[in-house]
Amino acid sequence: MPDLMVNIDHVATIRQARGTYFPDPVYAAGIAEMAGASGIIIHLREDRRHIKDRDVRLLREVVRTKLNLEMAATDEMVEIARDVVPDMITLVPEKREELTTEGGLDAFSLSRRLKKVTEKVREKGIKVSLFIDPEEKQVMAAKKIGADMIEIHTGAYSDAINDSMRRQEYKKVVEAAKKGKELGLGVNAGHGLHYHNVREIAKIEEIDELSIGHSIIARAVFVGLDRAIRDMLELING
Ligand code: PXP
Repeated sequence: MPDLMVNIDHVATIRQARGTYFPDPVYAAGIAEMAGASGIIIHLREDRRHIKDRDVRLLREVVRTKLNLEMAATDEMVEIARDVVPDMITLVPEKREELTTEGGLDAFSLSRRLKKVTEKVREKGIKVSLFIDPEEKQVMAAKKIGADMIEIHTGAYSDAINDSMRRQEYKKVVEAAKKGKELGLGVNAGHGLHYHNVREIAKIEEIDELSIGHSIIARAVFVGLDRAIRDMLELING
């Protein structure tokens, strides 16, 4: 059964809707850990639209499970990661105009840059994951770059508009996960997972961790964060 890592970006999104100091993502991390999350994920975006530098620093102090900092492979972010020292980083592509991370990293074409970033943060003992689409070429590139882990983008699986497309996308996720394990990489997965599509993904033996944000925070609005996380854990653990 994969571990559940909770992405709390959208707690900060609600805070930023009013530019005030609540709800505080630092509180969310405490509740998430108490509810059974195996780790906390935050994405410090270049435009700081939700998570702020202050959140990253405080969360580093507070999180006792595992802190995964999602970030673009820029010099600014590398400097922040080396300074804050999260347990791991996940390198993601980032475009200013996107609503959320839209596609995986092209690890194959960006391998030189990603290798450099990987080496720089590894000097501080930080583990590196690459967020990639479920394609063999990308998994192989991640291995070549020297990443510790991959995170398989489940967006296409989640967005599939019918069963046949979903099955097709599911197969790609399974194959990428198997390839990752075969190469000795840690294998995580996430994006677009929710209460009605997580079970199939959680069944894939090769997946170590699931990264889930929006659906959990959305449900928390109605039932509270503790319950939303426990509901998700129940589905993952079957
Ligand atoms: N993994 C990565 C790399 C992401 O960028 C995101 C979105 O922040 C997620 C997982 C979580 O996606 P969702 O919010 O759709 O659960």
